[in-house]
Amino acid sequence: MDIKKFLILSLFCFFSFAIQAQRIAIMGALDQEIAILLDSMKSSKKVNKGGIDFYTGKLKGKKVVILKAGVGKVNASYSTAILTENFKPSLLIFTGVAGGLHFEALPGDIVIGIKLVQYDFGQIDSTGFNVSPFRKLDGGRHEELYIEADAGLVAKSILSADKIDFVPISGRKPKVFAGVIATADVFVSNNEKAAWLYEEFDALATEMEGAAIAHICRTLGIPFVIIRSCSDNANNNARVNFNQFVGPASVNSARLVMGILEEL
Ligand code: ADE
Repeated sequence: MDIKKFLILSLFCFFSFAIQAQRIAIMGALDQEIAILLDSMKSSKKVNKGGIDFYTGKLKGKKVVILKAGVGKVNASYSTAILTENFKPSLLIFTGVAGGLHFEALPGDIVIGIKLVQYDFGQIDSTGFNVSPFRKLDGGRHEELYIEADAGLVAKSILSADKIDFVPISGRKPKVFAGVIATADVFVSNNEKAAWLYEEFDALATEMEGAAIAHICRTLGIPFVIIRSCSDNANNNARVNFNQFVGPASVNSARLVMGILEEL
C-alpha cells in the first residue's frame, strides 16, 4: 500500500473510532426522571464535572452518559454546556415529566417534542408582556420562535412508542402525542394559563427545560429530542396531580428512551 492510501485509511479509521466513541447523552431534571435508566445501566461509572454528576456506561448496548440537570432553564443550560464541553455527545435525549395541555393528554401519556418554544422570552410594553424571540443585532431579524427537534429522532421516537409497554394510570393505556412543547421557568397550575398555552402556541405540554436545551443543541449542531410524559394537566389541580403521578410518568418517559436506544 502506498503512503497516501495508508494515510487516508488511517484517517478513516481514526474518525470512525472517534464517532463510535461518542456517547449518547440522556438528561432529566429530577432524580425520579433518570432513576430507572441508572438502575438499568451496565458498568456504570460516576464522574463529577462542574458540580454535576455524570454517569457513563452502557444502556441497551449503547454507550451513554446520563445526568440530572436540575429544574428550570438555567440549570438545563448550564448542564448542557458542561455536558457538551466534556463529553461531545453524538446526540441528546431529554426524559421527564410535563403538564399536559391537550384535553386528551392525561397523566401517564407521552408527548414527543417536534418543536420547542420558550414562552417567557419577550418584552414588556404598554400592552403588557408579549412573547417575542430575540432580535438579532445584525440586520434586525428575529430568531425563530420555535426550535425544531431532530426529525430522524422524532420519527424513531414515534415508531418505538408503538412497541413500549407503558405503565397504565387509573386503568387507562397511555396515549402518545407528538407536537409542540412550551417551556418557561414556571410551574403552571392554572386553568386559564394552560388553555392560553394550548391556544396561543399549539402546545401539547408544558415544562421547564426543553426549549433551553433545544436552543443550545441548535447552536452546537447536536441532534436532540425531548421526551415527556404527563404528570398533570397544568390546571388548578396540577400540584396535587404532579405529586401523585410524577413516579409512573417518569417511568413511562424513561421506558420510551430505552426503546429509542434500541432503534439507534
Ligand atoms: N412539569 C410537570 N408538570 C408541569 C407543569 N404543570 N408546569 C411546568 N412544568 C411541569
